[in-house]
Amino acid sequence: MQGKRIIMVVTLGVAGWLVIPLLARVQQEAGDSLPEGNGKALVSNSCVGCHSMETSLRRGRSREEWVETVNDMVSRGAQILPADAETIIHYLAEHYGVDFVPPPARRIFVWVDHQGNVEPLAAPPRNYNRPSLSPDGQQVAVDIPLDTSDIWIYDIPTGELRRLTYEGNNRSPTWSNDGQWVAFSSDRHQSPEGGRSYRDDHEAYWKRADGSGEAERLTDAEFNHGPQRWTPDGKTLSISEIHPETGRDIWMLPFEGDRTPWLFLKTPALEGGVAFSADGHWLAHTSGETGQREVVVRAFPEAEPAHQVSTGGGIEVVWPLNSKDLFYRNGNKRMAVEITTGPTLTVGTPRVLFEGDFVNSPGSRAYWDATQDGQRFLMLKKVE
Ligand code: HEC
Repeated sequence: MQGKRIIMVVTLGVAGWLVIPLLARVQQEAGDSLPEGNGKALVSNSCVGCHSMETSLRRGRSREEWVETVNDMVSRGAQILPADAETIIHYLAEHYGVDFVPPPARRIFVWVDHQGNVEPLAAPPRNYNRPSLSPDGQQVAVDIPLDTSDIWIYDIPTGELRRLTYEGNNRSPTWSNDGQWVAFSSDRHQSPEGGRSYRDDHEAYWKRADGSGEAERLTDAEFNHGPQRWTPDGKTLSISEIHPETGRDIWMLPFEGDRTPWLFLKTPALEGGVAFSADGHWLAHTSGETGQREVVVRAFPEAEPAHQVSTGGGIEVVWPLNSKDLFYRNGNKRMAVEITTGPTLTVGTPRVLFEGDFVNSPGSRAYWDATQDGQRFLMLKKVE
C-alpha cells in the first residue's frame, strides 16, 4: 500500500498544544471550502494549517503524486498520524485528481483609505492581477488569465471593462505618466509550434491605452523582460530582467535616441518592484540582499549604495508622485514612510497605516496602487 510509505511518526508532543490553536483558527477561514467526503476533517486538520488548499492547489494530481506531495508536506512539518495517511491520500486523489481544474479566483477592486476603510468598486468579480492605476486615477489596467492572459482596462466612472490585448499571453501592465500608453510583458512573438510558455520567454511591449494601433515590442533579448515603472519625465521605462545567474536585475529603456537599454543594477540578489521619486533623482526597489526582501532607495541614474527604507521585511512598493510618503507591504500590514528627496535623502521611520486581508503579490511587483496624492489605494479583495 503506497499510503503506508508515509510512516514518519509525528507525535503530538510538547509542541502540540502550540500548534493546535493556530490550526483551529485557520480552519475556520479556509476549511469550509473543502469538498464534502470521508477524510475532509482530517485534511482540514492536517493541511490547512500552513496554507489554504485553494492557494497551493494549482493543479490536480494522480494518487502516486499525492503520496509524494503528502510525504513532502510531512518533511516540511505537517503532522499526520500514520493511521490517517491512507484516508487523507484517498480524499485528495478523489477530489483533487488529475481532472481537477482549480476554480478561477474571484476578486474585486476596492478603494482603501489611510485608516483601512474599504469601498468596493462596481467592476465584476474576476481573477484580476497586478492592477495599475492611470495617472488621473480614473482607469485601472490589469491582467486577467482566461484562455489566454490579457490586459484589460477598467474605466471607473463608466464601469466599463474593456480588453486591450488579443495576441499571446500578456501580463504586468503599467501606465505611462501621460496616461496615453500601457506597457506590459507578452509572449506574443513566440511561434505557436515553439512549445515555449510565457514563463520561458516574454518581452516588454506597449500599446495605446485607448486600444488604437498595434502593440509595439520594446525589448528583444536573451532573457525575460517585463516593464516596471516610468521615470516621472516619461523618458525612461525601468525593466526587470530575469537572469539565470543573478535573478532579477534592473535595466532602463530610454525612449530617446536608438532606445538601447542600459543596465542600472545587477547583483546576485533579487531586485524588483521599482518606483521613482517625483523629482526623478531616486529610485525605490525591493532587494533580497539581506536574505529577506527589504525596500531600499538608491540615487538615479547612478546607482549609488542603497539606503534601507523598510525594517523587518518590505515588498510591493508604491511611491505616488504627489505624496510625501512611500508605501509598501510587510506581511498583511500596509506601511508608510516619509521620504524627503533632494540632493540628499531623508528616510523617516516606517509606520503602520492599516492591516487587512487583501490580495497580496506572490512576487515583489505591487498588487496595489495609489492615487497620485497618496490618499487612496486601489487594492484587490477576494470574494466568494
Ligand atoms: C507545516 C506546514 C505545512 C503543512 C501542514 C502542509 N503544507 Fe503543503 N506546503 C507547505 C510549504 C512550505 C509549501 C511550499 C510553498 C508553497 O508552495 O506555498 C507547500 C506547498 C504545497 C503544495 C503546492 C506545492 C506542490 O508540490 O505543487 C501543495 C499541493 C500542498 N502543499 C498540499 C498540502 C497538503 C495536501 C497538506 C496536508 C497533507 C499540506 N500541504 C500540509 C507547508 C505545509
